[in-house]
Amino acid sequence: MRTISDPGELQRRCLAWKGRGARLGLVPTMGAFHQGHLALMDRARGLCDKLVVSLFVNPAQFGENEDLAAYPRDFEADRARAESVGADLLFAPEPAAMYPPDHATWIDVPDLGRRLCGASRPGHFRGVCTVVAKLFMLIQPEAAVFGQKDWQQLAIIRRMVRDLNIPVRVVGHETVRDPDGLALSSRNAYLTATERAAAIRQGLLRLARAAEAGQRDAAELTRQLVQDLARDLPAARLDYAEIVDPEDLTPLTRLEGMGLAAVALFLGRARLIDNILLQPGG
Ligand code: PAF
Repeated sequence: MRTISDPGELQRRCLAWKGRGARLGLVPTMGAFHQGHLALMDRARGLCDKLVVSLFVNPAQFGENEDLAAYPRDFEADRARAESVGADLLFAPEPAAMYPPDHATWIDVPDLGRRLCGASRPGHFRGVCTVVAKLFMLIQPEAAVFGQKDWQQLAIIRRMVRDLNIPVRVVGHETVRDPDGLALSSRNAYLTATERAAAIRQGLLRLARAAEAGQRDAAELTRQLVQDLARDLPAARLDYAEIVDPEDLTPLTRLEGMGLAAVALFLGRARLIDNILLQPGG
């Protein structure tokens, strides 16, 4: 596996591969790899001939008071893990290479990007979209794989790709969880043993069962989730719990078709997110 830090060199290498007929797959990451990242890489490996993994803690998607400086970093371990799942190339640029001082172009999907996490993290999805678009232009992959834990990110990237006619197949991969149900996240490293937040998953599963059993009133479902979280995670501070359309993320009042229950909360030093698809029954 080759490691490249220069965007120009990355683009030349990827274009040369494509010129020889190779299908490229991309897994964009910010490093601190866990089994969830490795599952994305495995999935992408099966979809392409050459697998590119990017490792870049993107400053543009962190707010002023967020954890950019503290974000977990372990380059050597990440490099070894990417190699172990068969990545062909690791792209690990410096911030100045991605954002030179006169960088002036940003990509924003304002409507979807202001909802849910976007409400408490203004500018976050603008940073995500811009860096992902740059990676798409540099690598020109046939397929790019993202985790469904960040459902909003996935929905926004799908919209960006559709709106800008970017020829990339965006693949969502199911969330990988610890045995207790907690969704894997690099930020779980901030949790202490007593802050394990498996109750988020249990609350979401109860909600999915209630929807299946015929509860279609989104306000009632949300009330149940908020109540469960307050009871089971008293130390947590809820950011949001909402039931939205899975594609455009608009809030739902009734479940007529599929819905998405999404939750974000602060626990100790960590901000945790999770979601579940709701299939109305009854
Ligand atoms: O999901 C992430 O780790 C990041 O938001 C991404 C997609 C790598 C962009 O920096």
